[in-house]
Amino acid sequence: MKGGIFILSGAGLSAESGLKTFRAADGLWEDHRVEDVATPEAFARDPHMVQSFYNTRREQAANAVPNPAHRALARLQAEYGAPVYLVTQNVDDLLERGGAREVIHMHGALKNALCASCGHRWAAPMVMDVKDPCPSCSAPATRPDIVWFGEIPYHMEAIQDALEDCELFVSIGTSGVVYPAAGFSQMARQLGIRTMELNLEASGGRFDEIREGPASTVVPDWVDKVLAN
Ligand code: APR
Repeated sequence: MKGGIFILSGAGLSAESGLKTFRAADGLWEDHRVEDVATPEAFARDPHMVQSFYNTRREQAANAVPNPAHRALARLQAEYGAPVYLVTQNVDDLLERGGAREVIHMHGALKNALCASCGHRWAAPMVMDVKDPCPSCSAPATRPDIVWFGEIPYHMEAIQDALEDCELFVSIGTSGVVYPAAGFSQMARQLGIRTMELNLEASGGRFDEIREGPASTVVPDWVDKVLAN
């Protein structure tokens, strides 16, 4: 029985769908300081600034369409004869809209709202108003369901279990600078798993194989090769 494939993706996977990455010259962190829009302290200090940052990104994600890389990963998941775990740092739903299933969003998802009081999750309106009470406990504790800097990423146990079930680790479109995701390739190596990077330019991380180029070309080409074997 062949092992699974663990795929970690970052903002580069959705770049050709028109969604900004974070650390490029025109990246999100060029327009906004992380400490103003992506920390719990920022949300406590100015919830309306934070909510408008995510309302804008929610609208941009809703207007974006999956690119050939999203669709190729969904095809791999459907046709590969072993599990394909799609673990993403991205908060858009382009993998799901490209046909992927059970996507693991370790940094949360724009499409959800979260109650900071009772933990209830529900489908976020396109334009979230944090003054809206939680539909479950009525507390005035609505927030974007996004993992902010200083918070604990979601699904870490499931991610560890997935890695241990795989024989190949593939990093797609991530600069590999934010932990714990940045440490997954080293965890893979320690488990004796082959590692590969598909990125516009090599991130500088250690991989057994690196393929450079835009995701919408490099990912479908790689998936075709994997499925042909
Ligand atoms: N195809 C493939 N890769 C691309 C493309 C493309 N068209 N365009 C850019 N990239 C690559 C860049 O080379 C870079 O390695 O995508 C990566 C984007 O890096 P970042 O902007 O740092 O985004 P990411 O790695 O996803 O950031 C990780 O940091 O700010 C936090 O929570 C945020 O999830 C995010 C995390």
